[in-house]
Amino acid sequence: MGPHKVLHFGGLEVWPPLLLAPMAGLTHSALRTTILQFGGVGLLSTEMLSASRLPAESQRCSPYLLRTGEERPLSHQLLVTGEQHLPAALARLHAIGADAVDLNLGCPAPQVRKIGGGALLMEQPQLVRRIVTQARQRTSLPLSAKIRLGERLDRDKLRNFCLLLEGEGIDLLIVHARLRGEPFIRKPRWDWVAQVKQWLHIPVVANGSIDSVASARACLQISGADGLMIGRQAASTPWIFALIARELYHLPLPHPLISLPAVYQHFVQALAERFPPERRLGRLKEFTHHFARNYPFGHHLASSVQASTTFADARKRATSFFLTQDPEAAVLLPEKP
Ligand SMILES: Cc1cc2nc3c(=O)[nH]c(=O)nc-3n(C[C@H](O)[C@H](O)[C@H](O)COP(=O)(O)O)c2cc1C
Repeated sequence: MGPHKVLHFGGLEVWPPLLLAPMAGLTHSALRTTILQFGGVGLLSTEMLSASRLPAESQRCSPYLLRTGEERPLSHQLLVTGEQHLPAALARLHAIGADAVDLNLGCPAPQVRKIGGGALLMEQPQLVRRIVTQARQRTSLPLSAKIRLGERLDRDKLRNFCLLLEGEGIDLLIVHARLRGEPFIRKPRWDWVAQVKQWLHIPVVANGSIDSVASARACLQISGADGLMIGRQAASTPWIFALIARELYHLPLPHPLISLPAVYQHFVQALAERFPPERRLGRLKEFTHHFARNYPFGHHLASSVQASTTFADARKRATSFFLTQDPEAAVLLPEKP
C-alpha cells in the first residue's frame, strides 16, 4: 500500500479518510458525539433526509437536523426521487451550514423504493442525470453520491452509471459493495470497488462490512479505495474509527480504554440533553440493538430495553443489566492488529 493520503472531497480535506455511514435512526447528534469522544473520524453524516420534507424541518427541534458545534465536518444525505425538490432542499442545507451533501442512490429499503428513491434510481440513469445536474448547479458544497453495485453484476452498466455521476460533477463516490438485493450477511464485493476506482478520476470510498482494523486493512488492499465508510460497527463500537486511525493512518490517538457502561451513558445523556422527550426512546432502542453486541449475553440488554415503554424505564433496565456484568469484562482492550 502506498502512502496514505488526505481525501480531497470538493473543497474539504478529509483526514483521516474514515467516514461515518448515513444510517436512518442511528447517525444523529447523540451517536456522532459519542464517536467524537474517541476521535479518528474524518467526515460525519446525518441519516437520510427526505428532500421534499427537509425545508419544513425546524433546525432547532428536528431530530434529523439537530447538531452541536463539535460535529464537523458533517455531510447531509438527501433522499431524492426527482429534481423538483432539490432547489429548496439545498437552499435549506446552505442555510443550516451543511459541510457537504450526499445523494442517496443506493438504499434498498422497500419503503424507499416505493417512493422511487435510493437504489431504484440506478435503474433510471436519465433521471439521475437531471438530479445531479440540478444539484451541481445549485450548490458549490462538496457533493457525493452513495451507490450499491446495481441490480445484478453488469460491468458496462455500472461503469456508465459511475461515469455519468463523475461527468455531471459529483466530487466523491461511495460504493457499498453489494448488489441491491444482497443482504448484509453476504460477503461484500470489495474487488468491485477496485474496478470502479479504475474507471474514475474522482476519489472513491469503499463501504460494506468494515468492522475491525483487520477488515479495514483488507478492504483497502483489495479495493485500493481512497477512503473507508463504516456503518453498523460505528453503532456497536463507536471507537472503531479511533482504532483504525491509529493503526492504519498513524494518528497519534491514545489507545482507547473502553468502559462500556460509560459509553452507553454518554449516548443516553446526549439523547436526554438534546432530543425532545418523544424522540428519545426509539433512538435508544435502535442504538442498544447494536451496542448490545459487545456483551456475550447482550440480547438480554437489547430485549430488556426493547420492552421498555418510557425512556426512564429503558435507562433503569440498562443500568440493572450493567450491574449484573463483571465490571472487569466491561472494560475492553483494543484488538491487536
Ligand atoms: C439501520 C441502518 C440504516 C441505514 N440507513 C441508511 C441511510 O439512511 N442512507 C444510506 O445511504 N444508507 C443507509 N444504510 C446503509 C449504510 O449506510 C451502509 O451502506 C451499510 O450499513 C453497509 O455498511 P456497514 O457494513 O459498515 O454497516 C443503513 C444501514 C443500516 C444498518
